[in-house]
Amino acid sequence: MKLKYMISALVLGVAIAVPVADAAQDWRNTVSTAKKVDKLVAVMPATGNIMIEMGERYKNLYWAAKLGQWDFADYQAEEMEELIDKLKITRPELTKTANEFLKNSYPHVSQVVRSRDWDKFSVMFENLRSECMACHSKNEHGFIALPLPKRASSPVLNME
Ligand code: HEC
Repeated sequence: MKLKYMISALVLGVAIAVPVADAAQDWRNTVSTAKKVDKLVAVMPATGNIMIEMGERYKNLYWAAKLGQWDFADYQAEEMEELIDKLKITRPELTKTANEFLKNSYPHVSQVVRSRDWDKFSVMFENLRSECMACHSKNEHGFIALPLPKRASSPVLNME
């Protein structure tokens, strides 16, 4: 074999050997289904993960409405409701307070956004803001206060 073929064979060998070695250590291929489920449960989004997203959508909702982007505001409001539904699955201990929040806020939030009326929106948003903070208080996180958003992060709103 010519040297250059030997070198390519070696290179190829390494390229093939690496994924095989990794696959043998990859828990997705090695552990039982029960263990896999345990791991999946362990990596489900925690309250903090979901709330970071909630905080972004809270800001986007406010500014979308303020800038007259009502369809985008409506979309944010829906996503926020779905986040609470997701929270109830990943953190069932929050189900009771999550349901209280939903009952006090929805479908009112979406209905007001659809009315495309800024005055109604500002009243509704104040109520939403206090419902968010009420849930924080009920869950020993009353120090997480939510001011009226000074700006929003979505590239759709193009504010930063
Ligand atoms: C079901 C109760 C509940 C509701 C409803 C709720 N939150 Fe939270 N939120 C929490 C808890 C609990 C934490 C603390 C996070 C943790 O335990 O890891 C939190 C934390 C946060 C944080 C801090 C996240 C971080 O780690 O930096 C933000 C921002 C936040 N919430 C925004 C909101 C907004 C906005 C709303 C309303 C639209 C809302 N939350 C509604 C329970 C709730």
